[in-house]
Amino acid sequence: MFENLKAQPTDKILELMKLFADDPRDQKIDLGVGVYKNAEGVTPVMRAVKAAEQRVWEDQTTKAYTSLIGDPAFSDAMISLILGDAVPRANIAAAATPGGTGAVRQAFELVRMANPSARVYVSNPTWPNHLSILKYLGMETVAYRYFDEETRAVDFGGMIEDLATANAGDVILLHGCCHNPTGANLNLVEWQAVIDLINERGLIAMVDIAYQGFGDGLDEDAAATRLVASNVSECLIAASCSKNFGVYRERTGLLMAISQETSQQGLNQGTLAFLNRQNFSFPPDHGARVVSTILNDQALRADWAAELEDVRLSMLGLRQQLADELQKRSGSDRFAFIAQHRGMFSRIGAAPELVMKLRQEHGIYMVGDSRMNIAGLNATTVPILAQAIVDVGI
Ligand SMILES: Cc1ncc(COP(=O)(O)O)c(C=O)c1O
Repeated sequence: MFENLKAQPTDKILELMKLFADDPRDQKIDLGVGVYKNAEGVTPVMRAVKAAEQRVWEDQTTKAYTSLIGDPAFSDAMISLILGDAVPRANIAAAATPGGTGAVRQAFELVRMANPSARVYVSNPTWPNHLSILKYLGMETVAYRYFDEETRAVDFGGMIEDLATANAGDVILLHGCCHNPTGANLNLVEWQAVIDLINERGLIAMVDIAYQGFGDGLDEDAAATRLVASNVSECLIAASCSKNFGVYRERTGLLMAISQETSQQGLNQGTLAFLNRQNFSFPPDHGARVVSTILNDQALRADWAAELEDVRLSMLGLRQQLADELQKRSGSDRFAFIAQHRGMFSRIGAAPELVMKLRQEHGIYMVGDSRMNIAGLNATTVPILAQAIVDVGI
């Protein structure tokens, strides 16, 4: 049997991690994998997470199963964090999932169950795992224009034109904030135009929100998701706690299915539980419990929000420093977009040969499509990167 297996394509980012680890140079810089790192290059356990873990360890009296949709305290706390009071709780079905990836996967499966002929519209480019999961599930995808390679901003005209080709029931996948891999985002007026189009054409909105708090602030980063959830008849929201709580390996995420029809909630909730049962039964609990412990405790929540804000501001500072250094060294404003982008990533728009040159000649590792992880930098490495970008002729 095993001989019938075919080698699967390797994940480019994981491959890059290995190449970086094997590079013997001391001066190498890793801007590849999407993990936050502080100025010392460490991905720290957040203070509130440590404190909440200790509390869970002290208070937990059983490791018996929770429920198929996870601990309700987690769903409630996350719904409130993401949606505020934008949607009545009675209209929301929610289930904990193994990370944001688990939420994305379950959302696609729900779409396939409910409407096997639905096509999923994805931004060009998008997080590669969106494409690979959709392909694995045998679902048809349609790419919509998103990134303008010239301006390194959103090609909004192209996006709207492409979305207007969607048929009723097709799913429009949107990044709630901090678009991965480009760093370019819609403003709220543009979001409203997308929502209007979704409603006019009878489309289904799906929002993937994996970086709340990394862009403009916790509420600001959720504003678009709230606008969608309160203005469309049905939507799916896949959320990840990996980045904003720094609990990557705990696999902590939430899937929401929202309908303006309250009577639909029971069926949606039962479907989310069913999907969990088929794929992994009970979702991981530890990360979810840590997150709800933090969100439901005033002091822990304040400390978490303060540390997250420091993370956000440090990335904004690095963006500004890099844009300034590039302006100084290139004598042009063509890199100003780096300070406008939001989140952990920016796509700098370099040809693959130049990305390779950065790697070979300067030991600077970014993804082949020229996505760089801003959090992989610090005040000392920013000028080194800026000089290398100018030297290779980007
Ligand atoms: C756009 C996007 N969605 C979802 C995820 C899922 O993250 P995780 O499964 O680690 O929670 C990521 C992580 O890189 C992402 O960038």
